[in-house]
Formats: sequence, structure tokens, C-alpha cells
Amino acid sequence: MTDKDLIRQALRARLSAYVPYSHHPVGAALECTNGEIILGCNIENAAYTPSNCAERTAFFKAVSEGKRDFSRIAIVGGMDDKDPLELCAPCGVCRQVMMEFCDVDSFEIVLAKVVNPKHPDEISDDDIEVKKYLLRELLPVGFGPESLK
Ligand code: THU
Repeated sequence: MTDKDLIRQALRARLSAYVPYSHHPVGAALECTNGEIILGCNIENAAYTPSNCAERTAFFKAVSEGKRDFSRIAIVGGMDDKDPLELCAPCGVCRQVMMEFCDVDSFEIVLAKVVNPKHPDEISDDDIEVKKYLLRELLPVGFGPESLK
């Protein structure tokens, strides 16, 4: 699957976001090393702090189904009336969750600017501009499972 196909999956996930408070839907598509794709969206809450980001929804869905090996995550987000979407970087808490399960030097975080994001199935490759990072670039000198050995 290309990075742009993974972005299209994240855009599909974004359509399910529950965001009555921020109006900032985010979608994530987490790729397992066996090629499986797990989708996640942000899910907000009237009490605010129980809200969950799209990336963590995808990771927690995956891990709760026994999946532990991940290669890439695509993330798209922005205010719900925004077109084109600008890059949506993962928050610090989500980066820390990635650190728990992913290799910092090979796990890829795929972000994108997207034109006409509300219709993922009609988006051409030309409407998507990808910007890609390794986890180490977004979380240098992180604290992870190795730190407790
Ligand atoms: N959010 C995500 O789901 N992922 C990100 O990468 C950044 C922020 C959510 C949290 C909240 O529901 C909304 O976006 C506004 O912060």
C-alpha cells in the first residue's frame, strides 16, 4: 500500500470522529507489519479529559486484538470545515504510546496536506501532499521499555 493509500484510509477513519467539543476530527490508519490496517478516530467526552486521540484509538484497538508489530501510521486532521487540511502532528501522549510499541528508527509517521478531505474515495494522488517522519525524529531521546531494563 502506498503512503497516499494509507492517508486515504485515515481520511475514511476521520469520518467517524466524535468531536462535538473541538470540531477537530482526526483519523488514523495504523499498518501492522503483516499488512493489516487498523483505523482510529478521536472520541471526545463532555468531561473533556476522557477524550481519546485518533492515534491512540488505533493503537489500543490493535493491541487489544493481539497485534504488536507496526510499520507505519497515517494521520490526518483539522477543523471540520477546513479544506485543504494542513499537516496534523501527533500529540506528545500519542508519541509516547508509539514509543511503547514501535521501533524508533523504522516506524514511520505519515502526515499529509489534503484537498477536498471529506470525500476520501474521490481524492486523487495529486490532492495529497505527504510529509513523512521516523518516530525518532518526532520523539528524540524518548523514555521507553528499554529504559526499564
Ligand atoms: N487530536 C487527535 O486525535 N490527534 C492528534 O494528533 C492531535 C489532536 C484530537 C484531540 C481532540 O479530540 C482534538 O483533536 C482537538 O485537540
